[in-house]
Amino acid sequence: NFNDKEDKSEIYEINKVSARYFRDNLYKNSFALEYLRKRNINAKTIRQFGLGFSLNSWDNLYRYLSQKGYSDNAIEKAGLIGKKSGNNGYYDKFRNRIIFPIIDTKSRVIGFGGRVLDDSHPKYLNSQDTIAFNKGNHLYGLNLLNKHSNRKRILLVEGYMDVISLYAKGINYSVASLGTALTDRQCKLIKRYGEEVYICYDSDLAGINAALRAIDLMLKVDVNPRIISLPKGMDPDDYINQKGLIEFEKQLNNSLNYMDFKINIIREKYDLEKLEEKVNFTKEIANLIKGLKSPIEQDVYIDKISDKTGISKEAIEKEIRGKFYKKK
Ligand code: GTP
Ligand code: MN
Ligand code: MN
Ligand code: MN
Ligand code: MN
Repeated sequence: NFNDKEDKSEIYEINKVSARYFRDNLYKNSFALEYLRKRNINAKTIRQFGLGFSLNSWDNLYRYLSQKGYSDNAIEKAGLIGKKSGNNGYYDKFRNRIIFPIIDTKSRVIGFGGRVLDDSHPKYLNSQDTIAFNKGNHLYGLNLLNKHSNRKRILLVEGYMDVISLYAKGINYSVASLGTALTDRQCKLIKRYGEEVYICYDSDLAGINAALRAIDLMLKVDVNPRIISLPKGMDPDDYINQKGLIEFEKQLNNSLNYMDFKINIIREKYDLEKLEEKVNFTKEIANLIKGLKSPIEQDVYIDKISDKTGISKEAIEKEIRGKFYKKK
């Protein structure tokens, strides 16, 4: 559709102009610069990610873009402004936030993330989906990863700051979903951009559950991810800033394949000293092994669980194949 194409390119243009405006704001705002400095983000990193700042004003960006000649309609379609109630003009969506432009692999600014400088809520705000931006179809950081020839590894993390801090410290192959749950489309992108897929989500309950969901989505597109479990309460940004690159690389090397990660999580629910719990643990793992496509992989894990529990391989195999010797 021709009009659609026109509209899209105008959105990209408005976004690019806005990103520059946000960037200029940042350099003039010592408070925002100080926030980034405290988070270990230096000038080079600010430049590489095109970070910016949206002023603490109701319509600063709106007035700037209007002066440049962009129509209310176009600015609204870009998702940068919203209508005030009672047909009373427009307000800026991003106010008083650090701005993270979201850039696609064709170097277009497709949307923005914005973070508050304090503990207020919502912590992050993301551009709404527009005709030029579908959050589920993109990954933050893919534009930079795309520039580096070594596409062996790809590391999936939760947030903007994780991607940025990792990059600043030398890990240039991480990506994040955009404030929404991981999608099938994003898994396919990940598969396309890296041979070895690692997941390093925040080490909290939400992060573990999200990792379990991510694993299952990856398996559906035939990717077997490896999982990095950081010390409790940390995310990759915390970890690399506190411990440095070498320690983070150790974490990569100590990553678990997804099965071992799942088994560990199930293991924590049971006390294997108790007979009944040992039985239930083994049943739950048998059910997990059942889902493995490869008989060789099945065999490896049957061995492992047999060793761990002292239950015979034969019994676990029967449990998996559902063949029982019933008493007559
Ligand atoms: P910092 O606190 O700045 O280190 O960010 P973080 O990336 O560690 O944040 P967190 O782990 O809480 O969230 C991970 C990602 O989820 C963020 O990068 C955002 O994309 C998204 N997110 C977090 N909070 C919100 C929120 O309040 N609203 C929305 N829409 N997304 C959020
Ligand atoms: Mn989190
Ligand atoms: Mn986090
Ligand atoms: Mn964080
Ligand atoms: Mn064997």
